[in-house]
Amino acid sequence: MTASGAFDGIRVRAEQVGLFETPILHGRLADADAMTAALAAAIRARHAAVPSLSRSNIGGWHSATDMLDWGGPAATALADIAIRMARRCSHFEGRDAASFEWTCKMWANVSPPGALNMSHAHPGVLWAAVYYVDMGAPPASGETGGELFFEDPRFPIPLMRMPGFRLRGIDGQPQPVEHRMPTAAGDLVLFPAWVRHGVRPHAGTGDRISIAMNIDVVG
Ligand SMILES: [Fe+2]
Repeated sequence: MTASGAFDGIRVRAEQVGLFETPILHGRLADADAMTAALAAAIRARHAAVPSLSRSNIGGWHSATDMLDWGGPAATALADIAIRMARRCSHFEGRDAASFEWTCKMWANVSPPGALNMSHAHPGVLWAAVYYVDMGAPPASGETGGELFFEDPRFPIPLMRMPGFRLRGIDGQPQPVEHRMPTAAGDLVLFPAWVRHGVRPHAGTGDRISIAMNIDVVG
């Protein structure tokens, strides 16, 4: 662009507004040790008895989505907590959220060292959640890995023009196209089911155990 002479003095004062927030809740459960231990015992027993499904998991064991049938009262309690979180983040135009029947499908993942989950979404439901039962043990040196990661759902559009282009956020910083969330045993993470996500390879020792949930409403 060349200078435009008489109009060079024009200034712009712009206010940036961040629109279309995506709520992702990182919950930490308190006084949940007994529930977590009961969940771990149920999952280990099921793992020993039933072969794995093949889903987003690379390596490791993935149960069927019927954990509420075999997870006992601890699984029911966990589903209730996750549904409460989802209800808190939900609004239905013209209808009270409490008037819906809320549903939860639950399954377990047991990941040995090296296992991971490829990027995926959970189609057909409103919310997805993950509860961390056991993170495995850290390696002798280096990072434990196994972070949950989220992909920016807007990213495919700028990627088509210029892969290195980033939008600056209201803090002035370029917005990352992927967010890694380190988690600990007792953490419950809730996110809209359409957000693509995955799990980095488990680089620690011992099995890493997590529980996934699909949360939805009927009606
Ligand atoms: Fe998932």
